[in-house]
Amino acid sequence: MNITVDGRTVPAEEGQTIAAALHADGLRAWRTTRVGARPRGLFCGIGVCFDCLVTINGRASIRACLAPARDGDVVTTGGER
Ligand code: FES
Repeated sequence: MNITVDGRTVPAEEGQTIAAALHADGLRAWRTTRVGARPRGLFCGIGVCFDCLVTINGRASIRACLAPARDGDVVTTGGER
């Protein structure tokens, strides 16, 4: 299956989270902090740190490490917090 990330097609496996799909595709950071614009991506991987926030199908501030990838999901990255 495939998801769309910032307009780009990214492959995802059944049962994989959005964060895992991004990581498998080589993306290590997909947003920045408001202060200092420091890169953030997958950190804890268990929903604690909120570093992995993305927008999925128009729903903002979703933790990518907890969100299962579904075929056709549209993911937008680059938010600040
Ligand atoms: S990586 Fe920490 S909440 Fe997702």
